[in-house]
Amino acid sequence: MHHFNYISGILHAENVDINTIIKAVGTPVYIYSSATIERHFKIFANAVGVPKNRVFYATKANANLGVLTTLARLGAGADVVSEGEIRKAQAAGIDPNNMVFSGVGKTARELAYAVSVGIYQINVESEGELELLSEIAASSGKRQDIVLRVNPDVGAGGHAKITTGSSANKFGVSFSEAERLYAKASNLAGVRCIGLAVHIGSQITELDALESAFVKMRSVVESLRSQGLHVERLDLGGGLGIPYEQQAPFAHGPDLIEAYAAMVMRVTDGLDVELGFEPGRLIVGNAGILVTEALYLNKRGNKNFLVVDAAMNDLVRPAMYEAYHEIWPVIEPVNATCHAYDVVGPVCESGDTFTSDRNLPEIAKGDLIALMSAGAYGATMSSTYNQRPLIAEVMVKGDQFVITRPRQTYEELIGTDVAPIWV
Ligand code: LLP
Repeated sequence: MHHFNYISGILHAENVDINTIIKAVGTPVYIYSSATIERHFKIFANAVGVPKNRVFYATKANANLGVLTTLARLGAGADVVSEGEIRKAQAAGIDPNNMVFSGVGKTARELAYAVSVGIYQINVESEGELELLSEIAASSGKRQDIVLRVNPDVGAGGHAKITTGSSANKFGVSFSEAERLYAKASNLAGVRCIGLAVHIGSQITELDALESAFVKMRSVVESLRSQGLHVERLDLGGGLGIPYEQQAPFAHGPDLIEAYAAMVMRVTDGLDVELGFEPGRLIVGNAGILVTEALYLNKRGNKNFLVVDAAMNDLVRPAMYEAYHEIWPVIEPVNATCHAYDVVGPVCESGDTFTSDRNLPEIAKGDLIALMSAGAYGATMSSTYNQRPLIAEVMVKGDQFVITRPRQTYEELIGTDVAPIWV
């Protein structure tokens, strides 16, 4: 479900005509709908029982300040994976006491920063991290609340590169090590080990794998308690998928969320823990589009290469995960003839392809098209490859829009490099 629709034959973000934004900002540009973000957050928070339980939005999905402040106003916490994300979430007004810090490679500096700002919880992923964190916190006279991230050996997700919960993945401590490390953590001076965390993958649309991972986590909680260890939190991660294809409109919108919440409540029934959730894609995925202009139509044999001004450096998901994004022309096609197009960007790699042989209504040079469902892992994964400046981001609310990140200038792009002057 999202708020991008045709009104009088022109694509709108909420009540704003996309053409109006493009006239002001140019292309390519990311456009976000605050109404969609708010709707998804509220549905999810309500389903999982906030405020008894807590929702920490996964900042990595979209860290634009416009997105983060929209969520901060709704009372969202943040799941962060670097000092940069902590600082950005703080800049958006999210209290560190409402943040969880995950990740396999937290540096000493990052841990010290997190402890110093009073982060709500650190999700520890290894014995080495546990020892380092305890030393850092103890040396500043603190005892940091932590949970232990367990790898349940249940992998899931829309692509091998985004599966995290299998034992072949780098994340978390192994199932067999969990109890020993939990007991060890409970005797360290600088940490207070009060629970467990799990996250098995992303773009998950079937609940079975999540359920078996959560059932395993429940058994670890019970086993720890039977040894007299204290467990009061269970962080269940993120990972719920969104519909990328219109063929199944709203197929896993509110229904999937409701089914997920019911499953979680069933599996954790009577466990008496505070549950934590870290949704990213679910909140912002369908809340963003990438609008790009068709530059050239190059016919090569039976191929129609539509070259657009956005590229893999702006949205890497198709190149990296063979991800599917719907393509909607900004002017609503009416009885248009369709052709098969390869929609490609200007970057000098054949992998810079958004889609191959996609049947689309006829598109001409100068037309604007939107890559849909680009709100999650779009702008946050972008780069300046081929020395292409980072593109603008715009947020819409009702009939207003604001540039929440201006397009990077060439001065900014080049300005941070230093040419060496050798003596
Ligand atoms: N929690 C942890 C510990 C995570 O590693 C992730 C995502 C999340 C929460 C949020 O997952 P979500 O609810 O968004 O599925 N770049 C990939 C997705 C990578 C996901 C990484 N971890 C993509 O574009 O599909």
